[in-house]
Amino acid sequence: MIPAIADSQPAELTLRPGAAAARPVTTADTPWSDRYALRARGMTSSVLRELLKLVEDPGIISFAGGLPAPEVFPGAEIEAAARLVVAEHAATALQYGATEGYLPLRELLVRHMARYGIEVTPANVLITSGAQQGLDLVGKLFINSGDRVLTEEPTYVGALQAFTAYQARYMTVPIDEEGMCTDRLEEALRAGPKFLYVLPNFQNPGGVTLSLERRWRLVELASRYGTPIVEDDPYGQLRYEGRHLPPLVQIDAEHHGSARRGRPYRGGVIYLGSLSKTLAPGLRIGWIVAPEEVVARLVQMKQGSDLHTSTFAQMVAYEVARGGFLDRHVRHIRKVYGERRNAMLSALERFFPPGARWTHPEGGLFLWATLPEGFDAAELLAEALKEKVAFVPGSAFYPNGGGRNTMRLNFSYSRPEVIEEGILRLGRVIARGT
Ligand SMILES: Cc1ncc(COP(=O)(O)O)c(C=O)c1O
Repeated sequence: MIPAIADSQPAELTLRPGAAAARPVTTADTPWSDRYALRARGMTSSVLRELLKLVEDPGIISFAGGLPAPEVFPGAEIEAAARLVVAEHAATALQYGATEGYLPLRELLVRHMARYGIEVTPANVLITSGAQQGLDLVGKLFINSGDRVLTEEPTYVGALQAFTAYQARYMTVPIDEEGMCTDRLEEALRAGPKFLYVLPNFQNPGGVTLSLERRWRLVELASRYGTPIVEDDPYGQLRYEGRHLPPLVQIDAEHHGSARRGRPYRGGVIYLGSLSKTLAPGLRIGWIVAPEEVVARLVQMKQGSDLHTSTFAQMVAYEVARGGFLDRHVRHIRKVYGERRNAMLSALERFFPPGARWTHPEGGLFLWATLPEGFDAAELLAEALKEKVAFVPGSAFYPNGGGRNTMRLNFSYSRPEVIEEGILRLGRVIARGT
């Protein structure tokens, strides 16, 4: 482990244990900083992760993290599943496992996705340690230093963290209420990005959903320019109004005339799923859907990272999810979060000042507010924290800068009455700033 060297004090450690005259190492000549790889230089710690620490202060009303509500965690079911896995399957659960993942879980996910229109086989599925690892593995497999990745603007900050580690540069296309503005896409595709990263459902952070028409347009254009699509969909099942829209991976299969049950998927989309928002993020179970040859290469990337995702966690997730529980549980979560979204929309109407606008998410965990020009959401955050309410300033989600007057508000974590109080406080802070 790398010893922590405090900035302010000389550390009393020597580099060569036993070397009697070894010089004490101080911050001034720490041997670490000039040895970090080039890719580490562009990296900073995520504003989001730093903010998540605030949630630990029980006095703060936090709209900052993307946290599921702890009240909806299926604790009893997970406890029962964990007992069963240890009692009956310890030899498998506690042993090393296949990098691809626990086969019964991959088969279950294939059946589950088929209900949402995605027709693939277990050979197309790689279990990952959360969708976040999926993003990292995609970066590891595809991004050379300086490669351009095309994203929405704003986009998920965790993807930027994952791709920036491989020294990606970013090209962006703005979003509006119907998701990525596909009328701006062709121009960007012409510049030859390595791949297109997109969140069609209840976008993080925008809360917007890509319309059906734009989904087709996006797939057609990406296919015409030969640009692979990375579709990140951790929230797809958490819809509170409107009808389910087909994922890009399904549209792509239809576009190429290859959508058939039981047939391996061979198209141009890599799809990322997650159990974090539908069961519990602490399990760290996500998955990648990709053509078999891409799965094989991703498996090699994953072996260098962690050999495989925890077999124990995969088996517990499988035992909890099978037999229809996952579907029943998703229905329950939709109800709880739908009420919280409504509570936030209603509080915004009442307490945010005129001139502020916000999105109306049909699902997911976030909405996106835009304050009048001239506001700086980062400065507002400092004031808001004095009132014990937190949010994420929108600029964190802009890969190339911008979005100073925007903010992301999470509505899944707090109860409706707490949401109302938090938006009241935030409204007061904004009104003072006008
Ligand atoms: C858009 C998006 N992708 C990926 C992730 C990572 O999810 P997981 O917990 O599955 O790693 C998140 C988490 O909030 C997310 O919002």
